[in-house]
Amino acid sequence: MIIFKKARDITRFLAEQKGSASPVGFVPTMGALHQGHISLILTSKKTDGLTLCSIFVNPTQFNNKKDFEKYPSSIERDIYMLEETGCDVLFLPGIPEMYPGGIKNDGHFDLGYLETILEGKFRPGHYQGVCQVVNRLLAIIQPGRLYLGQKDYQQCMVLKKMIGLTQQETEIIICPTIREKDGLAMSSRNILLNEKERKQAVKIAETLAFIKKELKTGYLEDLKERATGYLNAEGFKVDYVEIANAKTLEPVEYNYGKMPLVALVAAFVNDVRLIDNMILDT
Ligand code: PAJ
Repeated sequence: MIIFKKARDITRFLAEQKGSASPVGFVPTMGALHQGHISLILTSKKTDGLTLCSIFVNPTQFNNKKDFEKYPSSIERDIYMLEETGCDVLFLPGIPEMYPGGIKNDGHFDLGYLETILEGKFRPGHYQGVCQVVNRLLAIIQPGRLYLGQKDYQQCMVLKKMIGLTQQETEIIICPTIREKDGLAMSSRNILLNEKERKQAVKIAETLAFIKKELKTGYLEDLKERATGYLNAEGFKVDYVEIANAKTLEPVEYNYGKMPLVALVAAFVNDVRLIDNMILDT
């Protein structure tokens, strides 16, 4: 695996490859890699001539300074995992490389209501930061395909919108959420959980499975309240339990049984904020 730290070096390298390789597959990450990330690399490797991963903990997408400071990092282990998986290129930029003009959220992406609901509502500015960094990464790498995880459902929709707004040609491939044996969605933040919190965390996935099982036609408020009540009773601080249109992410109050739905949860286990989602069969 070749590691680049400078944008100009990776751009030059990719220009040299042009013509020889089928489209470049790109997997942007913030490191502290787990099998969820690795599944994206493996999916790219199946179709792309060159698979490229980036690791950059992007400061502008953290609306909470403490969250940024305590974000896990395991760079040597990450490099080892990427080598083992057969990733071709790692882009590992520092902050000055990504933010030559200093860390600020310049520019604005018109994300519409996507930015005012769910994660957008609870993490103001978060998606502007995500768009800013992914837009810059795409400009440097110009991949044919961009691989994203369904685990961050709203992020997939936001980045689809951003790519449309900026008229880029990159195709987005959304890959399924990889889970631990007990159902907990893999996340870099899981490392921050102690043993007791880890046991508690799985209740988020259980709640989503409960919603899926209990879903009926009619009003959804009661089901959402029962799910929230369960998480509260289990010691979570719940940001939201929502059932939304799986295509638009607009919250749904009444289930006619025809529309594809997705259930989404964000909740704190003590200081650690976890998110997860599940597609519901209607
Ligand atoms: P990060 O949280 O490191 O995630 C990188 C990619 O891995 C995202 O597309 C995410 O959805 C995917 N992913 C995370 N957990 C997963 C799981 N359990 N199963 C499948 N895929 C999973 O998301 C980000 O970084 C950043 O916001 C980023 C896009 C890199 C911009 O900074």
